Amino acid sequence: MRMIDIIQKKKSGEALTTDEINFMIESYTKGEIPDYQMSAFLMAVYFQNMNKQETADLTMAMVNSGDRINLSAIKGIKVDKHSTGGVGDKISLIVVPLVASVGIPVAKMSGRGLGHTGGTIDKLESIDGFKTELTSSEFINNVNTYKMAIVGQSANLTPADKKLYALRDVTSTVNSIPLIASSIMSKKIASGADAIVLDVKVGSGAFMKSIDEARELARTMVDIGKSLNRKTVAVISNMNQPLGHEVGNANEIREAIEVLSDKGSKDETTVALTIASYMTVLGGAFSDFDIAYKELEQIIKSGKAIDKLKELVKIQGGNPELIDNPDNLPQAKYHIEVKASKDGYVESINAEQIGVTAMLLGAGRKTKEDDIDFSAGVTMVKKVGDKVAVNDTICILHTNKESHNEAIEVALKAFKISKSKPKQIVYIYDVVQ
Ligand code: URA
Repeated sequence: MRMIDIIQKKKSGEALTTDEINFMIESYTKGEIPDYQMSAFLMAVYFQNMNKQETADLTMAMVNSGDRINLSAIKGIKVDKHSTGGVGDKISLIVVPLVASVGIPVAKMSGRGLGHTGGTIDKLESIDGFKTELTSSEFINNVNTYKMAIVGQSANLTPADKKLYALRDVTSTVNSIPLIASSIMSKKIASGADAIVLDVKVGSGAFMKSIDEARELARTMVDIGKSLNRKTVAVISNMNQPLGHEVGNANEIREAIEVLSDKGSKDETTVALTIASYMTVLGGAFSDFDIAYKELEQIIKSGKAIDKLKELVKIQGGNPELIDNPDNLPQAKYHIEVKASKDGYVESINAEQIGVTAMLLGAGRKTKEDDIDFSAGVTMVKKVGDKVAVNDTICILHTNKESHNEAIEVALKAFKISKSKPKQIVYIYDVVQ
């Protein structure tokens, strides 16, 4: 088999066979196919798409490119969740203890942030002493005993996806539905989940800019999950502004504490409860979504959910007292208030640009090697639909950097203020199952 023939076939819109896809992914992982040929192939997929069978084959080829995590020693249905990536997206920090508190095992592998998006592992590391690397027996024991563990992805999980994702990032081929779907689903399958809830973000801070595209991505991933015998549900949620009020690391931990203590914002709480409810239904704790949602709301109100977060911090090496005293989490030296330049209503907030602002303040990485500042970030004081008067504070920038002008400029531009009140915001657009 030759890579040039595979590129030619895809370029002319033909479907590839399972053998061709396996050959290509195996050879690319071993370094036998150069990046320039793979780049040409990715661009051909971007324009010509892949059918269901090809997308499922690509997913499995990437799963088989590295280790598969064996979770069979964990009792019960292991439920995982994955977000397609957003800004202020602290849903994993909320749903892991929440779902575990009803006895459903959550063995979570999470990533780090890159560019404008944040990562759960970075956020957790803002808790002094929190270990994001556990041995596999510690991981399994914690999930069996406490029903939860969150760790960074093991180095050899889906190495083909790691290589391909880095190449897509620099060849403008990230936002292709079969490529995103196979990338996400390969990681979920390789990390051993029995059931998967996907949070498909749509809007200015997401890869999918329209609801139709998001629906197609959701359907593709749900079909892959089902074809591989994994119960899969996709929730399509709004990413047309940052989720909640905090974007960064330590400040996102503070907001997760608020949600689990029944003091969260409406958007963050609704999305978290929706994802957690589907996870508990797939895990078999409740018979339907509405019952699950009500029960989980009660669990938050009762204080059980925040206690479970304290337990998570304790068993992974952090100090649980921080959860009662979140002001002791890292704090930045400077807090700069960004002011509205005119009267009106917040019509939109470009979530990606707020993510970029947080990165400029030190909360994110420009390259994989960069260190992050856990205390840096943005507090969204005003959100879409809020009334503002000239000179009102619309957001606060937290940083230890001496120069902040570029960040202020980007944050200001992210806010669009107009005369008329915008339509009511929808948090969840659709659910695909
Ligand atoms: N998240 C992933 O893991 N992969 C993609 O391709 C896009 C978002």
